[in-house]
Amino acid sequence: MADRTGGRGQARRVTFAGEVADYYSRFRRGYPPPVTDFLVCELGVGAEDVVVDLGCGTGQLAIPLASRVRHVVGVDPEPDMLAHARRAAREHGVGSASWVLGSDADLPTLGGLLGGTHVAAVTVSCAIHLMDSTTLFAGLRELLPPGGRVAVIANGTPIWLQASAWSRALRGVLEQHFGRPLTATCGTDDVTREGYRTELETAGFATSHAELGYHEAIDIEWIVGNLYSAMSPHQLPRKEDRPAFAQQVEDALRSAQPKGDFVDDVRVAVLLGERR
Ligand SMILES: C[S@@+](CC[C@H](N)C(=O)[O-])C[C@H]1O[C@@H](n2cnc3c(N)ncnc32)[C@H](O)[C@@H]1O
Repeated sequence: MADRTGGRGQARRVTFAGEVADYYSRFRRGYPPPVTDFLVCELGVGAEDVVVDLGCGTGQLAIPLASRVRHVVGVDPEPDMLAHARRAAREHGVGSASWVLGSDADLPTLGGLLGGTHVAAVTVSCAIHLMDSTTLFAGLRELLPPGGRVAVIANGTPIWLQASAWSRALRGVLEQHFGRPLTATCGTDDVTREGYRTELETAGFATSHAELGYHEAIDIEWIVGNLYSAMSPHQLPRKEDRPAFAQQVEDALRSAQPKGDFVDDVRVAVLLGERR
């Protein structure tokens, strides 16, 4: 797995380029309607509001969000991810989303680009661990008016870090493949999130927490694609080695769960900050 641990206050250089972006668009969790509704409710946004989705990736969240608010501005530093987002928005007939090449460092001045448009909320989903969170939260005070909200979202834990037998087996395959323990939680563990909460409070946000859980059946193709979507491009197995890698994953999963009923246990966790 890519070393995308990041951590509070220290951004790491990452790439979701090329094939990784392709895998990301096909094999990452989305935000099913009940989850999007839950997030919209927590953000307190509606048809009149403009929302910024920072680290929007291939638009998994920005696109369903865009159909519930006036406009979503998706910001991401990876052109290949944005290209997927733009295409997906077109395919879904969503015209209320714009895609901006940029990063967390651009957020404080984004308001200038938007010509003083009132930004009601900022979402950062599955991406805060890649950013300089301390600086970001302080800078958000420039973009968000009093009462404006930021949601730091964990869209479940990585599939190789769950409690099920098949997830443990998957972790075993990956640890053997990479020759090291896989402990990075990508900012989804409670201790790291408590650190983000403290940083938000320090930056002048009143914080709260909300969660929504659901289960989804997944298959081997999705599991393997999901693994590729979490690797850096240089870590992807060579094309000719991918069938053998996929077989190794399948063998391990089936020996852990012979019935083959793999269920993704998704806990969507929202750390909400409201600007004082
Ligand atoms: C794991 S993906 C999350 C995508 C999407 N938000 C989702 O929920 O599926 C992380 C995204 O953050 C982007 N990213 C990485 N570093 C970033 C930074 N410093 N500022 C903003 N986005 C960044 C990556 O390019 C990638 O698209």
